[in-house]
Amino acid sequence: MCEDMKRSVIYPGSFDPLTNGHINIIKRASSTFDEVIVSVAINSNKSSLMTVDQRVKAIKKVFAKNKKVKVDKFEGLLVQYAKSKKVNTILRGMRTVQDFEYEMQMATSNNKLNSKIETVFMVADAKFSHISSSLIKDIIKLGGNAEEFVPEPIEKELKKILKKG
Ligand code: COA
Repeated sequence: MCEDMKRSVIYPGSFDPLTNGHINIIKRASSTFDEVIVSVAINSNKSSLMTVDQRVKAIKKVFAKNKKVKVDKFEGLLVQYAKSKKVNTILRGMRTVQDFEYEMQMATSNNKLNSKIETVFMVADAKFSHISSSLIKDIIKLGGNAEEFVPEPIEKELKKILKKG
């Protein structure tokens, strides 16, 4: 590898919404890698609350001051997107043993689709291992306080969307 080559990683996900658990992974990755591309998957099979563009905008806002973090969106196969970005490393967070099987299937499939692609895992901070985006949506829908789980701008945005709906 060329010495001045940038070590970039793609952190893909639905991020509907981005949670403090995701933020923890992104921050840690940005001190390990030169560039972290947080990429929102456009997935019409998964029903979502925020539009893809709302999610991109919200994540950009959260990381506005971190120059190592780039925010993007992608449609179709992750391996094709990674190739188009010229990035061979995918990052995923592992919260509990329950994540393991799904993550292993995805990492193996992606590597079969393109043998250059490697997936690296970061163990989620125990403080956030119980969080999921669905749980947060439920809490907000039911009038609960989600400030412990999502940054303030995202909580505000979600409340706004839920009021309109
Ligand atoms: N902290 C908190 N929550 C976390 C988390 C963390 N560190 N890591 C994952 N989660 C949660 C998410 O909030 C989400 O919760 P939800 O199910 O309640 O919404 C859940 O874990 C999983 O979501 P996410 O990490 O966003 O993954 P995903 O399963 O929605 O998306 C893709 C996976 C987008 C990476 C995958 O579907 C993909 O690559 N799609 C592109 C098409 C493709 O290439 N398919 C073949 C893949 S082999």
